Amino acid sequence: MIQYTDELKEEIRSANDIVDVVSQYVTLKRSGRNFFGLCPFHKEKSPSFSVSPDRQYFHCFGCHKGGDVFTFISEIERISFKEALEFLAERARIELPVSQNSEFNKNQYLKDKMYKINAETAIFYHERLYKPLAKIAQEYVKQRKLDNKTLKAFKIGYSGEYNELYKNLKAKGFKDEEILATGLVNKNNNGEYIDRFRKRLMFPIMDVSGRVVAFGGRKLENNEKLAKYINSNENLIYSKKKHLFAMNLAKQSTSKKIILVEGYMDAISLYQRGFDNVVASLGTALTEEQGRLLRKYCEQVILSYDSDGAGQEAIMRGLSILENQGCDARVLQMDGAKDPDEYVIKYGSGRFKLLIDNAISLVEFKIKMIKNKYNIENSSDKIRFLKEITKILSEVENKIEREIYIEKISENYNISKEAIYAEVNKEVYDVKSSEKILLRPIAKKEKQTEINPITIKRENMVIYLLINYFKESYEPIVTNISPDDFKLEQNKFIFEKILNSTAEESEKIVQSLANIEDSEIQSHISEILVTDYEISSVDKCIEDVVNTYNKERLTNRKNEIVKQLENISDSTSEKKSELENELNNIIIELAKRK
Ligand code: CTP
Ligand code: MN
Repeated sequence: MIQYTDELKEEIRSANDIVDVVSQYVTLKRSGRNFFGLCPFHKEKSPSFSVSPDRQYFHCFGCHKGGDVFTFISEIERISFKEALEFLAERARIELPVSQNSEFNKNQYLKDKMYKINAETAIFYHERLYKPLAKIAQEYVKQRKLDNKTLKAFKIGYSGEYNELYKNLKAKGFKDEEILATGLVNKNNNGEYIDRFRKRLMFPIMDVSGRVVAFGGRKLENNEKLAKYINSNENLIYSKKKHLFAMNLAKQSTSKKIILVEGYMDAISLYQRGFDNVVASLGTALTEEQGRLLRKYCEQVILSYDSDGAGQEAIMRGLSILENQGCDARVLQMDGAKDPDEYVIKYGSGRFKLLIDNAISLVEFKIKMIKNKYNIENSSDKIRFLKEITKILSEVENKIEREIYIEKISENYNISKEAIYAEVNKEVYDVKSSEKILLRPIAKKEKQTEINPITIKRENMVIYLLINYFKESYEPIVTNISPDDFKLEQNKFIFEKILNSTAEESEKIVQSLANIEDSEIQSHISEILVTDYEISSVDKCIEDVVNTYNKERLTNRKNEIVKQLENISDSTSEKKSELENELNNIIIELAKRK
């Protein structure tokens, strides 16, 4: 294992501005010194996720995740700290030192070869499509109305017979084990190498940056025995749940929406007809990883699944995955065609555009599903329908949004608005009161060990001052406040860390804090760093803080003395007069500080 040096870490850190990096996953808006957005790590409706460009830190005030750019990448991509470092080095095109024969490098080398083999293969298949022996494929693409520009844009191809690809790759100098690793060629029991894809229409699957990672091949013969599609198996560079077909093209679109379809042909056909923002999930249910990928490149996703294909469950799951990631997700409703490809050929792109504009939200989709269960002409069914939709409506947190839905439902299903409101209000009220009952015992339990938030805020302020105004604050703080004054363990730890560091510049302090590998402490540091304390006079602020600590110490001592005095009965004791003297002095001190 290679250990990277601190200098290299710093180089990578400073080459990856946290606002830029986070913006690829979260829509950020500036407010004051910081940027805010919806937290990608927990579900929320109003933004409590904050990024500080000055400090290069992020913090979520909702779920308390926080840290620097490495922490962010390792959390969001679910990779180790070291992998995050490599990820960000690649992003900034910083070369990492290599040690020969390490496991990591062997993998890198093989991956690199696999990308090259896939790229060569895509060219091989594509060029082959234009040759005379590809007549069957040429006729097929004509029948599917694919034009040449589209064939080029997607590098659509035609796979050969027997071992044509294998021979071609060998001629290009690739080794057997490299070719086998891609799964494009298999070795049979007789030790012969045979192409996986034969006489099929070939669709290269590319990653976001346009590198070919896998292939899908459609059968061309009308042979029931053949699978309609064969796809590459998962391998070192291809994971079905991470990729989306055509994402490399869709990310270039100027549209803020992405249309999500099921099939290769749907994506290709829509693209040809002017929709440059289409991606395909390739027949599988949408995964969290794919959701994040979509979120990175758009604000709204329109699910446009086959009308018979995916079940309601799959749509509902897809919608909620996207919504949980802070993405506006909608469902396109299609009648008169089995899939988007057939629809757009039959009715044209204008009509399909209308479907996009009329796509419905998760709430509307759920209501529609409930509606399908009932005959609302029948009055008892209508009441049941109303009861069921009320549950869904009461979960809509935003009042205005809820009103819009009620308006729509009233119109669409011919139910009076008042009736809906009456039910919804009942539900909202009930939910609120049952929540309260649930919350109370939990809140009580936490109280016992809870530290007064004002105390925490004050402690945070001390740390904040030390980090940001080291020169001015170090002397007065260190002479007046000791580590034992801190109630919150994290603060005590950070305070000691700062006292022990010889750094005199805040940048260095922040860097040394960033190297603490404790997520609770990281979260706490990030909270302090992204909070805007709105300090107008630094000196005044330091004075106030120090003063508060001293006052607190004096008051504690005062109370202690009073208690001790109560227990001394001998009125002439020396101890007693000593204490009384001290008490007098404290009272004078405190009076001065008022
Ligand atoms: N699929 C697959 N294997 C199959 C069938 C489907 O991998 N045997 C995947 C393919 O990625 C396909 C997607 O599921 O694109 C959707 O399936 P389908 O709607 O049947 O395919 P289309 O892309 O619409 O293809 P066509 O229009 O040619 O039937
Ligand atoms: Mn189809």
